[in-house]
Amino acid sequence: MNYAYSRRMEGEQDNAIREILALTSRPEVISFAGGMPSADAFPLDFIKEATNYYLENEPISVLQYGSSQGFGPLLRNLVTFFANKGLKTDVENFVVTTGSQEGIELVCKAFLNPSDVVLVESPTYLVALKTFKSFEAKCESVETDHEGVIPEDLEEKIKKFNPKLIYLIPNFQNPTGTTLNEERRKKCYEIAVKYNVIILEDDPYGELRYSGQAVPSIKSMDETGNVIYLQSFSKIVSPGLRVGAIVANKDIIRKIDSAKQSMDVHTASLNQAIVSRFIETGEVYTHVEKIRDLYRKKINTMTDCLGNYLPDGAYFSKPDGGMFIWCELDGKINSIPLLKEAAMLNVAFIPGMPFYAEGGHANTLRLNFTSSSLEQIEKGIKVLGDLIKTKY
Ligand SMILES: Cc1ncc(COP(=O)(O)O)c(C=O)c1O
Repeated sequence: MNYAYSRRMEGEQDNAIREILALTSRPEVISFAGGMPSADAFPLDFIKEATNYYLENEPISVLQYGSSQGFGPLLRNLVTFFANKGLKTDVENFVVTTGSQEGIELVCKAFLNPSDVVLVESPTYLVALKTFKSFEAKCESVETDHEGVIPEDLEEKIKKFNPKLIYLIPNFQNPTGTTLNEERRKKCYEIAVKYNVIILEDDPYGELRYSGQAVPSIKSMDETGNVIYLQSFSKIVSPGLRVGAIVANKDIIRKIDSAKQSMDVHTASLNQAIVSRFIETGEVYTHVEKIRDLYRKKINTMTDCLGNYLPDGAYFSKPDGGMFIWCELDGKINSIPLLKEAAMLNVAFIPGMPFYAEGGHANTLRLNFTSSSLEQIEKGIKVLGDLIKTKY
């Protein structure tokens, strides 16, 4: 039968990259492809205790239907969590989401009509691109350099495209690892206010800083309600729990709360309760320190190996945090066939092309350093570096 899929799913097809990556699920493959936390970074004992605590003491509150805005204790604990991040909020500034991915989807649902323009970094998180496109929005790229988005080009693109949203990942960007400095954040905010556009500030990696000083969020500069901030607990607790939060002014929150009712009614209450206890007991801070130590060793090992094994002239980013390193190879190299060859040598990565709204940039690729062991990083980067050298 010929299925008449919706227009929003047009262009959704299994692509070459997905097919190659399917071949890399063999256990002998060293995969730098995903965006997964390390398997030994989950606070298993804490999650067991928190689950038991709620099932023994407050079973009904976590097993019954709950409020679409979020589990009461979590909303209150989020206020403290954000105060510690330098942001003054109250409970009416939050909607708890099923991961920050649902946050992106809900913001689209609340704001986007078909043909609206979303300005994105070039490159940017590929699932966000997919989400904007599924709302039939047009994604237009703003130029970036190795320090992130260029405010002057942002202004040019606003004048040219009259966008509804500006989607930014200012901390340890996915895929490049870049952090936007404070001055550029301020300029982006001022431009958004000048032209009355919303900035969607997506920050799933902000807590994962391994070096340098924290930079204030764009949301913390917001005096006008132009910024919607997305928090995720995937990378600091567990992505399988699917808990995140939207932070925005009260008007927007009311609209998004209503959009969430018809999406998934509410985020799983037991999972919200676990995250709530994680914040309330302060365990979040001890745990984040632990995973920072773990990932710092991994990123240092990967950048050392890239320095040793990539050919001269190949660029790789040296992020202060997050989960990814970005590589730009000689222009004659195409990272899709390169992935095929690497997969045959039992190493995987993600080609850079799908991270660009307009495609192209075939000579780029993204490496994840969090989910492999130090030994795997050493071995895998040597294999990859040796393979790339044969192309230079
Ligand atoms: C930039 C960015 N935004 C959002 C997400 C979605 O995260 P989650 O839905 O697990 O919170 C990811 C996941 O990798 C990401 O990299």
